[in-house]
Amino acid sequence: MDLSLIVRAIIKKRRSTSPDNFNGKAVDKQIVQEILEAANWAPNHKKTEPWRLFVYEPEKVKNFGKMHAQLYKEHTPEEIFLEKKYKKLLHRADKASHVIIVGMTRSEVAGLPEQEEIAAVSCAIQNMLLVATAHNVASFWGTGGMCYHPSFKSVYGMEEKDVILGFIFLGKTDNDDLEEGKRHSPITEKIKWM
Ligand SMILES: Cc1cc2nc3c(=O)[nH]c(=O)nc-3n(C[C@H](O)[C@H](O)[C@H](O)COP(=O)(O)O)c2cc1C
Repeated sequence: MDLSLIVRAIIKKRRSTSPDNFNGKAVDKQIVQEILEAANWAPNHKKTEPWRLFVYEPEKVKNFGKMHAQLYKEHTPEEIFLEKKYKKLLHRADKASHVIIVGMTRSEVAGLPEQEEIAAVSCAIQNMLLVATAHNVASFWGTGGMCYHPSFKSVYGMEEKDVILGFIFLGKTDNDDLEEGKRHSPITEKIKWM
Protein backbone atom coordinates (compact mmCIF):
# COMPACT_ATOMS: atom_id res chain seq x y z
CA MET A 1 0.00 0.00 0.00
CA ASP A 2 1.46 3.34 -1.08
CA LEU A 3 0.47 5.59 1.85
CA SER A 4 1.86 8.70 0.20
CA LEU A 5 -0.41 8.15 -2.79
CA ILE A 6 -3.44 7.80 -0.53
CA VAL A 7 -2.62 10.86 1.55
CA ARG A 8 -1.97 13.01 -1.50
CA ALA A 9 -5.17 11.83 -3.16
CA ILE A 10 -7.25 12.71 -0.10
CA ILE A 11 -5.58 16.10 0.31
CA LYS A 12 -6.37 16.95 -3.29
CA LYS A 13 -9.87 15.52 -3.18
CA ARG A 14 -10.99 17.58 -0.16
CA ARG A 15 -13.35 20.37 -1.23
CA SER A 16 -15.44 22.95 0.53
CA THR A 17 -19.02 21.93 -0.18
CA SER A 18 -21.62 24.50 0.77
CA PRO A 19 -24.05 23.10 3.35
CA ASP A 20 -26.80 24.33 1.03
CA ASN A 21 -25.80 21.42 -1.21
CA PHE A 22 -26.05 18.79 1.53
CA ASN A 23 -29.03 16.40 1.38
CA GLY A 24 -30.00 16.32 5.06
CA LYS A 25 -28.90 12.73 5.63
CA ALA A 26 -26.98 11.89 8.80
CA VAL A 27 -23.36 10.80 8.94
CA ASP A 28 -22.75 7.70 11.10
CA LYS A 29 -21.69 8.59 14.62
CA GLN A 30 -18.76 6.19 14.37
CA ILE A 31 -17.41 8.18 11.41
CA VAL A 32 -17.94 11.47 13.21
CA GLN A 33 -16.00 10.07 16.15
CA GLU A 34 -13.12 9.18 13.82
CA ILE A 35 -13.21 12.70 12.42
CA LEU A 36 -13.09 14.20 15.92
CA GLU A 37 -10.31 11.86 17.01
CA ALA A 38 -8.18 13.06 14.07
CA ALA A 39 -8.25 16.57 15.53
CA ASN A 40 -6.40 15.36 18.59
CA TRP A 41 -3.37 14.36 16.51
CA ALA A 42 -2.53 17.80 15.22
CA PRO A 43 0.94 19.18 15.88
CA ASN A 44 1.01 21.63 18.77
CA HIS A 45 3.79 23.54 20.47
CA LYS A 46 4.46 22.88 24.19
CA LYS A 47 1.80 20.15 24.13
CA THR A 48 -1.01 22.59 24.86
CA GLU A 49 -3.54 20.73 22.63
CA PRO A 50 -5.56 23.96 22.39
CA TRP A 51 -8.44 22.72 20.17
CA ARG A 52 -11.92 22.59 21.67
CA LEU A 53 -14.80 21.09 19.71
CA PHE A 54 -18.49 21.78 20.34
CA VAL A 55 -20.52 19.28 18.37
CA TYR A 56 -24.14 19.61 17.28
CA GLU A 57 -25.63 16.24 16.38
CA PRO A 58 -28.30 15.74 13.66
CA GLU A 59 -31.30 16.45 15.86
CA LYS A 60 -29.60 19.61 17.20
CA VAL A 61 -28.07 21.24 14.09
CA LYS A 62 -31.02 23.60 13.72
CA ASN A 63 -30.34 24.87 17.25
CA PHE A 64 -27.00 26.14 15.96
CA GLY A 65 -28.77 28.17 13.25
CA LYS A 66 -31.30 29.54 15.75
CA MET A 67 -28.61 30.55 18.21
CA HIS A 68 -26.43 32.14 15.51
CA ALA A 69 -29.31 34.12 13.98
CA GLN A 70 -30.47 35.24 17.42
CA LEU A 71 -27.00 36.55 18.31
CA TYR A 72 -26.96 38.47 15.03
CA LYS A 73 -30.32 40.03 15.87
CA GLU A 74 -29.34 40.90 19.43
CA HIS A 75 -26.00 42.48 18.58
CA THR A 76 -26.72 44.24 15.29
CA PRO A 77 -27.96 47.83 15.33
CA GLU A 78 -31.35 48.13 13.64
CA GLU A 79 -30.05 50.43 10.91
CA ILE A 80 -27.63 47.80 9.58
CA PHE A 81 -29.65 44.67 10.39
CA LEU A 82 -30.45 42.64 7.27
CA GLU A 83 -33.39 40.25 7.31
CA LYS A 84 -31.77 38.29 4.46
CA LYS A 85 -28.62 37.72 6.50
CA TYR A 86 -30.68 36.76 9.55
CA LYS A 87 -32.52 34.12 7.53
CA LYS A 88 -29.30 32.84 5.99
CA LEU A 89 -27.76 32.29 9.42
CA LEU A 90 -30.99 30.75 10.71
CA HIS A 91 -31.12 28.13 7.96
CA ARG A 92 -27.40 27.66 7.26
CA ALA A 93 -27.17 24.30 9.02
CA ASP A 94 -30.61 22.94 8.14
CA LYS A 95 -29.26 20.27 5.79
CA ALA A 96 -26.11 19.51 7.76
CA SER A 97 -25.63 16.29 9.66
CA HIS A 98 -23.27 17.75 12.24
CA VAL A 99 -21.84 21.17 12.99
CA ILE A 100 -18.58 21.40 14.90
CA ILE A 101 -17.67 24.74 16.44
CA VAL A 102 -13.91 24.87 16.71
CA GLY A 103 -12.27 26.98 19.35
CA MET A 104 -8.76 27.65 20.57
CA THR A 105 -8.21 27.85 24.31
CA ARG A 106 -5.29 30.11 25.04
CA SER A 107 -2.95 28.38 27.43
CA GLU A 108 -1.00 29.87 30.29
CA VAL A 109 2.30 28.55 28.95
CA ALA A 110 4.65 31.50 29.18
CA GLY A 111 5.87 32.98 25.94
CA LEU A 112 3.81 30.81 23.60
CA PRO A 113 2.62 33.16 20.86
CA GLU A 114 -1.08 33.17 20.05
CA GLN A 115 -0.44 32.43 16.38
CA GLU A 116 1.13 29.10 17.33
CA GLU A 117 -2.03 28.03 19.12
CA ILE A 118 -4.19 29.19 16.22
CA ALA A 119 -1.89 27.32 13.85
CA ALA A 120 -2.26 24.13 15.91
CA VAL A 121 -6.06 24.38 15.86
CA SER A 122 -6.00 25.02 12.10
CA CYS A 123 -4.04 21.78 11.72
CA ALA A 124 -6.65 20.01 13.84
CA ILE A 125 -9.35 21.30 11.49
CA GLN A 126 -7.49 20.11 8.41
CA ASN A 127 -7.07 16.68 10.02
CA MET A 128 -10.83 16.50 10.46
CA LEU A 129 -11.56 17.65 6.93
CA LEU A 130 -9.23 15.03 5.49
CA VAL A 131 -10.76 12.16 7.47
CA ALA A 132 -14.21 13.41 6.44
CA THR A 133 -13.09 13.37 2.80
CA ALA A 134 -11.72 9.85 3.17
CA HIS A 135 -15.22 8.78 4.25
CA ASN A 136 -16.99 10.68 1.46
CA VAL A 137 -18.42 13.05 4.03
CA ALA A 138 -18.88 16.54 2.62
CA SER A 139 -17.40 19.32 4.67
CA PHE A 140 -17.26 23.08 4.85
CA TRP A 141 -15.19 25.39 7.05
CA GLY A 142 -17.23 28.53 7.52
CA THR A 143 -16.72 31.72 9.44
CA GLY A 144 -18.79 34.84 8.88
CA GLY A 145 -21.85 35.91 10.79
CA MET A 146 -21.07 36.31 14.49
CA CYS A 147 -18.05 33.98 14.46
CA TYR A 148 -15.63 36.56 15.83
CA HIS A 149 -18.09 38.45 18.03
CA PRO A 150 -17.40 38.09 21.79
CA SER A 151 -20.99 36.94 22.36
CA PHE A 152 -20.41 33.91 20.14
CA LYS A 153 -17.53 32.42 22.11
CA SER A 154 -19.27 33.06 25.40
CA VAL A 155 -22.07 30.70 24.28
CA TYR A 156 -19.46 27.95 24.49
CA GLY A 157 -17.98 29.13 27.77
CA MET A 158 -14.84 30.35 26.07
CA GLU A 159 -12.99 33.28 27.55
CA GLU A 160 -11.93 36.61 26.10
CA LYS A 161 -8.40 35.34 25.34
CA ASP A 162 -9.76 32.31 23.49
CA VAL A 163 -10.53 32.33 19.76
CA ILE A 164 -13.25 30.73 17.65
CA LEU A 165 -11.78 29.53 14.36
CA GLY A 166 -15.02 28.67 12.64
CA PHE A 167 -17.80 26.19 12.13
CA ILE A 168 -17.27 22.89 10.38
CA PHE A 169 -20.40 21.67 8.63
CA LEU A 170 -20.47 17.95 7.90
CA GLY A 171 -23.02 16.24 5.74
CA LYS A 172 -23.92 13.96 2.90
CA THR A 173 -24.54 14.95 -0.69
CA ASP A 174 -26.40 13.08 -3.42
CA ASN A 175 -23.24 12.88 -5.44
CA ASP A 176 -19.95 11.86 -3.79
CA ASP A 177 -17.93 13.00 -6.83
CA LEU A 178 -16.46 16.27 -5.70
CA GLU A 179 -15.65 18.92 -8.27
CA GLU A 180 -11.99 19.19 -9.11
CA GLY A 181 -10.30 21.87 -7.00
CA LYS A 182 -9.06 25.12 -8.44
CA ARG A 183 -5.97 27.10 -7.49
CA HIS A 184 -4.93 30.45 -8.93
CA SER A 185 -1.34 29.41 -9.42
CA PRO A 186 0.72 26.23 -9.12
CA ILE A 187 2.92 25.63 -6.09
CA THR A 188 6.02 26.25 -8.20
CA GLU A 189 5.08 29.93 -8.25
CA LYS A 190 4.98 30.01 -4.45
CA ILE A 191 8.33 28.33 -3.82
CA LYS A 192 11.78 29.82 -3.75
CA TRP A 193 14.42 27.14 -3.38
CA MET A 194 17.12 28.48 -1.07
C1 LIG B 1 -10.40 30.21 7.92
C2 LIG B 1 -11.33 29.91 6.79
C3 LIG B 1 -12.58 30.49 6.80
C4 LIG B 1 -13.47 30.24 5.76
N1 LIG B 1 -14.70 30.85 5.80
C5 LIG B 1 -15.54 30.70 4.75
C6 LIG B 1 -16.80 31.36 4.73
O1 LIG B 1 -17.19 32.02 5.70
N2 LIG B 1 -17.57 31.23 3.63
C7 LIG B 1 -17.17 30.48 2.56
O2 LIG B 1 -17.89 30.44 1.56
N3 LIG B 1 -16.01 29.80 2.57
C8 LIG B 1 -15.19 29.88 3.63
N4 LIG B 1 -14.01 29.19 3.66
C9 LIG B 1 -13.74 28.18 2.60
C10 LIG B 1 -12.99 28.76 1.43
O3 LIG B 1 -13.86 29.54 0.66
C11 LIG B 1 -12.43 27.59 0.58
O4 LIG B 1 -11.52 26.85 1.36
C12 LIG B 1 -11.70 28.11 -0.66
O5 LIG B 1 -12.62 28.63 -1.58
C13 LIG B 1 -10.90 27.01 -1.39
O6 LIG B 1 -11.75 25.96 -1.81
P1 LIG B 1 -11.52 24.45 -1.32
O7 LIG B 1 -11.66 24.44 0.18
O8 LIG B 1 -12.59 23.65 -2.00
O9 LIG B 1 -10.15 24.06 -1.74
C14 LIG B 1 -13.10 29.40 4.68
C15 LIG B 1 -11.82 28.80 4.70
C16 LIG B 1 -10.96 29.05 5.75
C17 LIG B 1 -9.61 28.38 5.74
